[in-house]
Amino acid sequence: MISLYQHELLKHHAACVVWFTGLSGAGKTTLALALQNKLHHQGIHTAMLDGDCLRHGLNSDLGFSQEDRASNVQRTAQVCKLMVDAGLVVIVSLISPHAQSRNKARSLFNEDQFFEVYVNTPLEVCEQRDPKGLYGRARRGEIPLFTGISAGYEVPENPGLILQTHEHSVSDCIESLLSMLEPALKRRLADQQPD
Ligand code: ADX
Repeated sequence: MISLYQHELLKHHAACVVWFTGLSGAGKTTLALALQNKLHHQGIHTAMLDGDCLRHGLNSDLGFSQEDRASNVQRTAQVCKLMVDAGLVVIVSLISPHAQSRNKARSLFNEDQFFEVYVNTPLEVCEQRDPKGLYGRARRGEIPLFTGISAGYEVPENPGLILQTHEHSVSDCIESLLSMLEPALKRRLADQQPD
């Protein structure tokens, strides 16, 4: 079986997870897509796991109860694990509102393989943006258990990075992400010995 080291050697970069967490409308998917685009043009092999997409396929049987959200996060984390083991930089965009689930996901990886990024956009801003009209519907009571309105969001205690899309441009956020990722993408290759 081809080892992670061999995959990373072939790809000329280390593998890792960039896990965006935050409210709906915070800008997670926008940042995730911009990051993927930037990394792709640097010759870095990526995969995208976006909550809205996953909920149409792999996780289409899940709703928004606490248990279902935990399953959503855990299944996504397991897919991340497979993809990281194949040498990819996996970019995840999930509300992932519960610290316990996020920490369980993190526990599947080495410390230098998992980057939690908290997209810290205030609820008022997300609600004003309301790109899918969901906050309006949630306020009218049409969507139960809506994160930020009728379901909780636990702020990450020690994220690798905090981004504020209401105060900084997407390109500034991408610069911060690259500064965080670049050493890890290079370092692990230099540090590792062949298996
Ligand atoms: S998570 O909480 O389980 O991590 P996930 O990121 O997969 O959520 O899906 C969030 C998306 O589902 C939102 O961006 C929104 O489009 C949609 N959605 C539908 N119902 C809800 C709800 N009750 N709470 C949050 N998001 C919802």
